[in-house]
Amino acid sequence: MAHLRLPESSRPVAGEVHRAPQGTWRIKRFRVYRFDPDQGTPPRLDTFEVDLEQCGPMVLDALFYIKNNVDPTLSFRRSCREGVCGSCAMNIDGRNTLACTKPIAECQGEVPIYPLPNLPVIKDLVGDLSRFYGEYASVEPWLQAETLPESGRERLQSKEDRARLDGLYECILCACCSTGCPSYWWNESYLGPAALLQAYRWISDSRDEAIDHRLDELHDPYKLYRCRTILNCAEVCPKGLNPGKAIAAIKALMVTRR
Ligand code: SF4
Ligand code: SF4
Ligand code: FES
Repeated sequence: MAHLRLPESSRPVAGEVHRAPQGTWRIKRFRVYRFDPDQGTPPRLDTFEVDLEQCGPMVLDALFYIKNNVDPTLSFRRSCREGVCGSCAMNIDGRNTLACTKPIAECQGEVPIYPLPNLPVIKDLVGDLSRFYGEYASVEPWLQAETLPESGRERLQSKEDRARLDGLYECILCACCSTGCPSYWWNESYLGPAALLQAYRWISDSRDEAIDHRLDELHDPYKLYRCRTILNCAEVCPKGLNPGKAIAAIKALMVTRR
């Protein structure tokens, strides 16, 4: 049963304000969610004034500025800083996105930064993605084939078959879509848009021979059919993908194979 009110202890309180040094003339304020479960205190929102003259153009640059110059205890994930690894996903200015590709200039006024919604928080901006990765593993995201390829070597694909994977293979598993999906919040057994997009990526692969097995596994009122076509997933995907469309295609396959 979903809890519609946050427990008192999880509501953020006002935190510290870290002002920029005197004489700084290009200041941007960031309001950052801070939480350390080991401290036993409620989360707080710290305010940091960042000198834009000393900081790169992206929100991830501002987080690095804060960590390197103001508060080294600030925790967040990142790796590639190129929008490729998906690890810097967070909620910035009210929207799930990647900190490394989100320009500070696109944010009006003070910029709120929270972890991705609906994840247990490990620390500050780092959410626990165990459920998310479990769902990904459950769709068996690898090629399954019993027959040997004609050549005895590579499993070849025509250009047309390869093109059917466009819009699917580019997913970087950042979790912006799933954690932005209201159905995913309320239904713990719903696989969510990212895992279902990945499921469809393998269903669509001309080299894969497990389509019936994959559809059997998804034929479940919760795993697949909790999608309500709200399309928040497509709205927030930083790679421009449309998981809602992939989910609709899986549903259509369920009907046609009947
Ligand atoms: S279209 Fe489906 S998966 Fe996407 S946000 Fe809506 S309910 Fe969630
Ligand atoms: S579909 Fe888009 S938002 Fe969802 S995990 Fe993949 S890249 Fe991220
Ligand atoms: S750091 Fe890799 S996507 Fe942002």
